[in-house]
Amino acid sequence: MNIIDTLNWRYATKAFDTSKKIENEDLNTLIEAFRLTPSSFGLQPWKLFVVKSQMLKDSLVEHSWNQPQISDCSELFVLARPTSFTESDVDEFVKDIADTRDQSIEDIQWYSDMMKWFLSNMDDDAKKVWIEKQIYIALGNLMTVCAQMEIDSCPVEWFVSAKYDELLWLTDKWYASVVVLPVGYRDNSDKYAAAKKVRYSTDRVVEIM
Ligand SMILES: Cc1cc2nc3c(=O)[nH]c(=O)nc-3n(C[C@H](O)[C@H](O)[C@H](O)COP(=O)(O)O)c2cc1C
Repeated sequence: MNIIDTLNWRYATKAFDTSKKIENEDLNTLIEAFRLTPSSFGLQPWKLFVVKSQMLKDSLVEHSWNQPQISDCSELFVLARPTSFTESDVDEFVKDIADTRDQSIEDIQWYSDMMKWFLSNMDDDAKKVWIEKQIYIALGNLMTVCAQMEIDSCPVEWFVSAKYDELLWLTDKWYASVVVLPVGYRDNSDKYAAAKKVRYSTDRVVEIM
């Protein structure tokens, strides 16, 4: 499939075939696609929780407006933000750059200072919004990579974050859920698979200047 056919093929899958599971190799590819997602400064303020346990998935349905894709998918991806993000996270990242690129920390002190200055200009609410924006980049990346691999997915915002954080022990790990992506394979019964895509015309959404 060319990329446009692939993007037309994907849709927000409501009914997953519960008998079809994603192979481990493909799951690892999706995890790697998540890891390779770009972020502001490269800071990666996120964590992907991959819920495989049927019991856990089932327990989340009632906290997701009873959407069946939460339990019927092969794996449930929960994209989460750290509940605190501080200068020490910048220090960890700067050390990783230095180690990876065989540079001294002093060489990249300016970059560290710039990131710390950027963070210092945000209060907690602004930081949360900024982190959530980064996480939505990962969400988009995952959906496209899924489609390219002919794996179905459904972005889900309709869930009770606090309940997810409790039931998946995210709060204890200093994370909070932001958005969810059930992944797997569409069931033949899903009427949305054949529904025409509803998108505005290019003229309506794009202006070339
Ligand atoms: C951020 C985001 C959150 C969404 N939340 C839900 C959701 O909770 N439940 C659901 O069934 N679909 C959800 N959707 C799917 C959208 O309704 C769907 O992507 C949109 O109608 C376009 O249709 P398509 O993805 O099938 O092309 C969400 C989509 C996005 C991008």
